[in-house]
Amino acid sequence: MKRNKILITGGAGFIGSNLALKLVSCGAEVVVLDNLSEQVHGEEYTDSSLFTSIKDKVDFIHGTVQCRDDWIQALSGVDTVVHLAAETGTGQSMYEIEKYTDININGTSIFLDILANESHNVSKMIVASSRSIYGEGKYHCTVHGDVYPKERVVGNMKNGDFEVKCPVCKGRLKLCATDESSDIHPSSIYGITKQVQEQMFMLMGRSLGIDSVALRFQNVYGPGQSLSNPYTGILSIFSTSILNGNDINIFEDGLESRDFVYIDDVVDSIVLSIFNEEAKGHVFNVGSGVNTNVLAVAEKLITNYASNSKVKVTYNFRVGDIRHNYACLNLIKDKLNFTPKVDFDTGINKFCDWVKQQEVKLDRYQHSIEEMKSKGLYK
Ligand SMILES: NC(=O)c1ccc[n+]([C@@H]2O[C@H](COP(=O)([O-])OP(=O)(O)OC[C@H]3O[C@@H](n4cnc5c(N)ncnc54)[C@H](O)[C@@H]3O)[C@@H](O)[C@H]2O)c1
Ligand SMILES: [Zn+2]
Repeated sequence: MKRNKILITGGAGFIGSNLALKLVSCGAEVVVLDNLSEQVHGEEYTDSSLFTSIKDKVDFIHGTVQCRDDWIQALSGVDTVVHLAAETGTGQSMYEIEKYTDININGTSIFLDILANESHNVSKMIVASSRSIYGEGKYHCTVHGDVYPKERVVGNMKNGDFEVKCPVCKGRLKLCATDESSDIHPSSIYGITKQVQEQMFMLMGRSLGIDSVALRFQNVYGPGQSLSNPYTGILSIFSTSILNGNDINIFEDGLESRDFVYIDDVVDSIVLSIFNEEAKGHVFNVGSGVNTNVLAVAEKLITNYASNSKVKVTYNFRVGDIRHNYACLNLIKDKLNFTPKVDFDTGINKFCDWVKQQEVKLDRYQHSIEEMKSKGLYK
C-alpha cells in the first residue's frame, strides 16, 4: 500500500529526526508531533540542532502526546504513525515514575483511544519498543538449559560479583542472543512502560484491523544523539565528559556489555516496517547482533578524541541496570530482509567525527549520578 502522510511522534529527537529526513528524501509527507523537551533539546529549543535539522522540512506541531487535541491535530490525513515520543532514561525512570508512566503509557493510550472512537485514516502504526523489556535476556546453563535470570542480587554486586547466575543452580551461565520469544521481565519502570506500549499497540492493532509493528531497539547511537542529556546514551554521555576534560567513571567492573546499533540501520528498520507488508503484526528485535563491553567503548572514545581523560572502574552500580544483552536478528532478517550494515568500529568513528563538529555541552553526568544516590538507587 502507498503511504502518503506519515506522523512521527518524537520526530525532533535522535531517531525521529534521522527518520524524518530519510522519509522526506524519499518523497513522503511527514508530520512531526514533539514537545521539544528541555532534557533533549536544551533550555532554548530554537538552538537545538536536532530540531533545526527538520523544522523546515516537515509539518511541525509543537505539542505533547499527553494532550488529546494535539494528537487529533497531528493525525489529520495521516495514514501511518511512527510513535517514538517518550521519556527514555532507564535510571531516571526509577524515581520519576509518574512522569514516565504518564508520557509513555498514558500518551499511548490517548492515541489508541482516538483510533477506537473517532474517524481517522490510520492503517499502519509502529511503536518504538526496547531491549529493556527483556531485563537480563537469554542465558544458557549446561544443566538447566535456556534460562532467563531476574535482577541480580544487590549483596553479590556489593561484593564485586556482577555476573548473572543460573536462577535454578546459581551456577555460571553462557550469554546467548536474546530472541523475540525470550521471557519479558523488565527491570526498570522505563522497561515496563515500553512493554505496555508495545502490548497496547499490538492488541489494539489486531482489534481494530490496523497493521501494527513493534521494534525492540537495542542501544542506538550515532550523529544526532543528544550530547546534553545525561540520562541516556552512554556514547554521548562519555563523549561530553571526555570533551570537558573529565575522567570516565564506569559502573560495575566495566565488562557489562550492550548491543550498539548504528542510527542508519535503525532508520532502515523503521522504513522497512513502514513499507513492507510482511512487517504487519510482528514484533522485531533491531540491533547489531554483537555485544561490546562498556570499558572498550570508553577506551575507544578516549583514543578517538586524543584525550588524556582516564577510565576509572568504580565497582558502583545502578539498581535496575542489566549486565549484558544482545539481539538475535533472525526474525527481522527472515521477514524484512534486514541486516545491519554498519559495524561498531565504523559507526563509532562516524559518531566521533560528528561530535567533534558540535559545540561542547555542559557535563551534567555527575549531577545525574548524585540524583540517583540521593534516592538510594546508586550503590
Ligand atoms: N536511543 C535508543 O538507544 C533507544 C533504544 C530503545 C528504544 N528507544 C526508543 O526510541 C524512541 C526514540 O528515542 P530517541 O533515542 O530518539 O530519544 P530522544 O529523546 O532523542 O527523542 C525523543 C523525542 O520525544 C520528544 N518527547 C518527549 N516527551 C514528549 C511528549 N510528552 N510529547 C511529545 N514529544 C515528546 C522529545 O522532545 C524528543 O524530541 C523512544 O520511544 C525510545 O524509548 C530508543
Ligand atoms: Zn543451572
